[in-house]
Amino acid sequence: MSTETLDLPKLYNKAGDFMPINGTDYVELYVSNAKQAAHFYKSAMGFSSHSYKGLETGSRDIESYVVSQDKIRIVLTSPLKSGTDIGRHIDKHGDGVKVVALWVDDATYAYNAAIERGGKHYMSPTVEEDADGKVVRSGIYTYGEVVHIFVERKDYKGHFLPGFQKWDHHYKPEGTGLKFVDHMVGNVHLGNMNKSVEFYENVMGFAQILSFDDNDISTEYTALMSKVMSNGNGRIKFPINEPAAGLKKSQVDEYLEFYEGEGVQHVALATDNIVDTVTKLRDRGIEFLNIPTTYYEALESRVGKIDEDIASLQKLGILVDRDEEGYLLQIFTKTVQARPTMFFEIIQRKGATSFGKGNFKALFEAIEREQELRGTL
Ligand code: FE2
Repeated sequence: MSTETLDLPKLYNKAGDFMPINGTDYVELYVSNAKQAAHFYKSAMGFSSHSYKGLETGSRDIESYVVSQDKIRIVLTSPLKSGTDIGRHIDKHGDGVKVVALWVDDATYAYNAAIERGGKHYMSPTVEEDADGKVVRSGIYTYGEVVHIFVERKDYKGHFLPGFQKWDHHYKPEGTGLKFVDHMVGNVHLGNMNKSVEFYENVMGFAQILSFDDNDISTEYTALMSKVMSNGNGRIKFPINEPAAGLKKSQVDEYLEFYEGEGVQHVALATDNIVDTVTKLRDRGIEFLNIPTTYYEALESRVGKIDEDIASLQKLGILVDRDEEGYLLQIFTKTVQARPTMFFEIIQRKGATSFGKGNFKALFEAIEREQELRGTL
């Protein structure tokens, strides 16, 4: 199919959402040891074995383990030999997110429309087939070396993607209540936030829904700026951070230095019961940022009445913020790989659609305490 067969202007005008996205299809990380990483996601995070490709399935160069929990699919990929693009990516960045895959109805249309609007090519529309049907994938670059792959799977009945087999394993740990990807945050170099905003507006048809400047997000030492981009149906939200001038090195600077470039800073995973989820994650060894007890003294006067017991929140270090529509509960893990780069957020929304602006100071001071220990502040 070519773009000429479609009435693009009509589609562009459809609520500004010319490229309808059904949701996050998967998130793929390039990691140095996919097999061991998959075990971490299962044992510590509560994911299940989902799919696999590697030598046993005829994949001679790369091995991928897919783990899932409710709607979340994480693909962990390692090279099986030296001299590969994946190996070079890992050498430069350490373990990190390469692909944020978006589920679309028509991956050929999405690619053609994005390229026509100035998107940078990563993968031409490619049909992959097996006995369960076919999947079309295509892709473009976003910030740094991160790519968006468009996945069209309406003609596919298989478990994940052609080339993968179902991964059956005797180890089936209990889930931790993680449901779906709420948002994914990118860190970009100073001066690139607005370029990224323009990319999401012009190429992807997203709209900016929020903006934070260094007055909102600053502590005694560090500052950053952030703009939140969303697609039309609100299922995909990408805040973009850039460092702002502060007295010391900001968390974004630290990320950019250790990731050696722009990339995904955190993946926020939603739960319906954050107290239960965080209790389970902690019991399995996940480390969270420590929040000072003073935060909880002022909590009720700041956010008003909430359903949760504040003592339980304090025990776990869970933060609360309120906006016009409701409130949210959130917590950040410490970074989850050798380099101080990516981490996870666990979030429960009770009406609130924002990102916890009232918690930025407490969170960033907690990150600074970690930076202090690393000697990177
Ligand atoms: Fe977040």
